[in-house]
Amino acid sequence: MTTTSTPARADRPAGPDHGTSPATTPGPAGPPDPDAAISVRGLVRRYGSGKDAFEAVRGLDLDVPRGTVTGLLGTNGAGKTSTLEVIEGLAPATQGTVQVLGHHPIKDRATVRRRTGVLLQSTGFPGDLTVAETARMWHSTLSDPRPVDEALDMLDLRGRAKVKVSSLSGGERRRLDLACTLMGRPELVLLDEPTTGLDPESRREVWRLVRRLREAGATVVITTHYLDEAEALADRLEIMHAGRIVRSGTAGEIAEGHPSTITFDRLERALPDLAGGQVDQSTLGDPRTVVETVDLQTTLTALLDWARAERVRIDGLDARTASLESVFLSIADGAEADTRRTEPTSKGA
Ligand SMILES: Nc1ncnc2c1ncn2[C@@H]1O[C@H](COP(=O)(O)OP(=O)(O)OP(=O)(O)O)[C@@H](O)[C@H]1O
Ligand SMILES: [Mg+2]
Repeated sequence: MTTTSTPARADRPAGPDHGTSPATTPGPAGPPDPDAAISVRGLVRRYGSGKDAFEAVRGLDLDVPRGTVTGLLGTNGAGKTSTLEVIEGLAPATQGTVQVLGHHPIKDRATVRRRTGVLLQSTGFPGDLTVAETARMWHSTLSDPRPVDEALDMLDLRGRAKVKVSSLSGGERRRLDLACTLMGRPELVLLDEPTTGLDPESRREVWRLVRRLREAGATVVITTHYLDEAEALADRLEIMHAGRIVRSGTAGEIAEGHPSTITFDRLERALPDLAGGQVDQSTLGDPRTVVETVDLQTTLTALLDWARAERVRIDGLDARTASLESVFLSIADGAEADTRRTEPTSKGA
């Protein structure tokens, strides 16, 4: 499987949709699963009201099994943070059912809060406190916290303990956020873009932490725009688009059935029938031609047999199986057509 460390962002140029995207994965059905760490059914989150209403989450179904790492992916504005905030008990659901560790995230907030560690997408501690003072302040709000030094060590921050928060680099601040998130020994950890802005070594350190959390039995939900990170860490991926989960499974399951691609430098002659392979017409005038196929071996063999018989030299030949990135980008491409300025799905608060 091909991976990339390039963040897959929604603002990448939209490409053609060749109608080859696999169908949306059906979400969990029936009543909420009381054994799941998180169980969501029919979640709607609407901002505003009347004609200005905007549905950021539009009927989301999700089960997160205990003891697993789930990667919640999606383009900018897909609704990841809006969903997490409801799960975290920071905002009410407009509609739908949410259970966290078998509890209601708002009505049973005291119980859920104690057992959950939350890293918000944007946070901010007062700049005039030092790292150690901030950590101690946070420590005093928790019921069974790790010692402050242990939490700082986990994020390699002990050496910065006496530095004011305002003087920390962006990545160091993020690590301080994370140290506080993990200080309360949470059994459920919700991380909204924990590694954005971190250098590669710090990212790897966060990966090691997440793996250690899972080994210790915790459940982790992580959002990220780094698809390599999602593949490396998550047992299961949930891809959101336009307020719904549209694909679920392992990276391999998600890429299955998605076309592989063969790319080569533009040829000066017409291509033959490629045994199921289809030339991406939008690449015809480009320096590189792209052929998509669901049967890479057969199409590649047809191409190479033709080239040998016709004595054609194919330069810059590259063949790759479908990747999480290619599925993700095909979902992102569809984003253009989706405005979501809607009539609300139904009544609701
Ligand atoms: N308070 C708000 N009022 C109106 N719209 C909002 C509000 N908060 C978020 N939205 C909109 O809801 C949509 C989903 O936002 P959300 O922050 O959940 O996306 P996201 O998937 O977390 O995106 P990102 O990857 O950029 O963090 C966006 O279009 C956003 O503009
Ligand atoms: Mg977000």
